[in-house]
Amino acid sequence: MLTQQQLKENVAVAAIDYVLPYLKPDTIIGIGSGSTADLFIDQLAQFKSRFKGTVSSSERSTTRLQSHGIEVFDLNDISHVPVYIDGADEIDAGLHMIKGGGGALTREKIVASVADQFVCIADESKCVDYLGAFPLPVEIIPMAREAVARQMAALGGRPKLREGFTTDNGCQILDVAGLRITDPKALEARVNNIPGVVTCGLFAIAGAGVALISTQTGVEQRKP
Ligand code: A5P
Repeated sequence: MLTQQQLKENVAVAAIDYVLPYLKPDTIIGIGSGSTADLFIDQLAQFKSRFKGTVSSSERSTTRLQSHGIEVFDLNDISHVPVYIDGADEIDAGLHMIKGGGGALTREKIVASVADQFVCIADESKCVDYLGAFPLPVEIIPMAREAVARQMAALGGRPKLREGFTTDNGCQILDVAGLRITDPKALEARVNNIPGVVTCGLFAIAGAGVALISTQTGVEQRKP
């Protein structure tokens, strides 16, 4: 029986096989955040001479990339990101996701939005029929905390401030439990439209293009 850590390591290795065709001398790769993305970064380091560099979705990933001698570019200085690799907290059959358990959801969504292809890497514990058992992270401007919390409660959620946590953007996060999300695209649009919300951790309007899911019997490639 493989542990969750072994499953994450396996998908990180499989992700390298998937991105190898993208690794060219002028290529910039988009890098996500979290423990699975960390393992991918460690694998990617072996191939750093094959591509130009990366754009990163968090200070955490930037530090890890640079520790391997992988160059990290400012997104404002580049025009093309062919592929973005990141984990998920939950993923459904349509490859809609909840992300942001690590708090990097906004930069993740920005980098993902400019990439041609989002490759989600996850172990099978992240696969769900319906999103929402994992509390939905919502990044907020601090002065709007209570106003947003009331609106999330009106949507049926139980918002809780992530205590003692500040995002890379100087904002706060409400983790919203109790949402059984049957229409993730509609909910993403609705929450993102609340004044004071920077973004929510639903990645549904633009989900993943492909998911590599690590199971006890191997890494499976899934499409929406
Ligand atoms: C970071 O903000 C998150 O979106 C992560 O990508 C997500 O939480 C998955 O993290 P793990 O790979 O650590 O489970």
